[in-house]
Amino acid sequence: MSKNQSRLDLFIDRMVSQRACLDHAIAQTAGMAGPVFELGLGNGRTYHHLVQHIDGRPVFVFERAVASHPDSTPPEDRVILGDVRETLPAAVDRFGPTTSLIHADLGGHNREKNDIFARLVSPLIEPLLAPGGLMVSSDRMYFERLEEMPLPEGAVEGRCFIYRR
Ligand SMILES: C[S@@+](CC[C@H](N)C(=O)[O-])C[C@H]1O[C@@H](n2cnc3c(N)ncnc32)[C@H](O)[C@@H]1O
Repeated sequence: MSKNQSRLDLFIDRMVSQRACLDHAIAQTAGMAGPVFELGLGNGRTYHHLVQHIDGRPVFVFERAVASHPDSTPPEDRVILGDVRETLPAAVDRFGPTTSLIHADLGGHNREKNDIFARLVSPLIEPLLAPGGLMVSSDRMYFERLEEMPLPEGAVEGRCFIYRR
């Protein structure tokens, strides 16, 4: 965090970057048919953004406890309930490498814990992405075969990350 940046500044940077990266990734993968995964529903703001802007691709949500805004609550058959450490490996059996877009926003306020968790889930996420698919994350990820992509205009370096298979 730069000395002059307040927590409010950081939050705004994160939100603006999240939207810029999601809009970019949605457009870049628009020609793909595979499903979209939202890892971490939370209030449901980014889930709502995804379903508002994606046509013809199902959006599946991975969440351990659904507590979203009523307008942003996915249908039951699109929720994969449980801890992602268990549900992601099961999803590899169910979906294989077919996902066109994966968005992960699983972190909390502790940067160190977020980084440890990102290292843990990266190998669980990697086998789910289809060739040409994009992964958008609020945390730096640790993939073996995915390539880190430049951020689109409007996104702030370090606040959002995009990877491509
Ligand atoms: C920061 S919130 C997501 C906010 C969301 N992007 C939005 O726009 O409202 C993180 C969510 O990830 C979920 N989560 C964190 N760790 C998880 C885990 N190991 N398995 C499943 N869900 C998890 C939390 O329950 C929480 O709802």
